[in-house]
Amino acid sequence: MLLSSSLLLLCVLGRPATFEQDFRVTWSESHIRHIDQGRTVQLILDRSSGCGFASKVKYMFGRVSMKIKLVPGDSAGTVTAFYMNSDTDSVRDEVDFEFLGNRSGQPYTVQTNVYAHGKGDREQRVNLWFDPSADFHTYTILWNHKHIVFYVDDMPIRVYKNNEARGVPYPKMQAMGVYSTLWEADNWATRGGLEKIDWSKAPFSAYYKDFNIEGCSVPGPASCASNPSNWWEGAAYQELSAIEARKYRWVRINHIVYDYCQDKSRFPVTPPECLAGI
Ligand SMILES: *[C@@H]1O[C@H](CO)[C@@H](O)[C@H](O)[C@H]1NC(C)=O
Repeated sequence: MLLSSSLLLLCVLGRPATFEQDFRVTWSESHIRHIDQGRTVQLILDRSSGCGFASKVKYMFGRVSMKIKLVPGDSAGTVTAFYMNSDTDSVRDEVDFEFLGNRSGQPYTVQTNVYAHGKGDREQRVNLWFDPSADFHTYTILWNHKHIVFYVDDMPIRVYKNNEARGVPYPKMQAMGVYSTLWEADNWATRGGLEKIDWSKAPFSAYYKDFNIEGCSVPGPASCASNPSNWWEGAAYQELSAIEARKYRWVRINHIVYDYCQDKSRFPVTPPECLAGI
């Protein structure tokens, strides 16, 4: 008992994550600035490049969140992403938030996707009910043995359940790193690629702060990930609370604009996890 709790302390990050200690630049250092005495990171996209950063280590299960203020004004054709990825090409596990920019005054779209054991194609899209460039909002991924939940502030916008019992793969064998990027994707991002990026509005910037990672870091003690006493495996995190379930229904009824589960032209045979309900 004593042994397992001290092991837990060793492998779970016991302090707020900071950019300097826990992340590294993966793409175009010159497009990343540290502002506000190092508390905030600014990602810049211009004609020459986008940019990105990643966590220094990977994690197995846990909860990752950051506050992001998205590209303001005319952000059509830009994509800001926050995701976890196992970085294993053919059997990739990945959990994505992608924020698709839009023309001024038009709603931002959040696309989510889940890859398990190399298979993705599970896109859902929600149009945000507020302007995510006016202020910082918290975006969170909760990942445990029961489900993966995507949150926008305290609103669950997507739940991917562990449906292994129905033969649906679930990410649980590989650790994932935490990534973020800002890039140009005007061939598909906004109204399916009809709206192009307006380079006269460049540079485009997104802002990040308050990084928070709690999970089993890898490398680390192998027993951490399967320890049922990790808080994120607790009863309160195994399913949505009644209040969360109500919020989730509200998002699905009012703000969902695309769900692969309903896309009969792409999937004439409904994917099995869709039949299992939300
Ligand atoms: C952009 O705005 C249009 C018009 O309101 C909307 O249909 C679309 O879902 C929005 N998002 C994207 C990414 O195109």
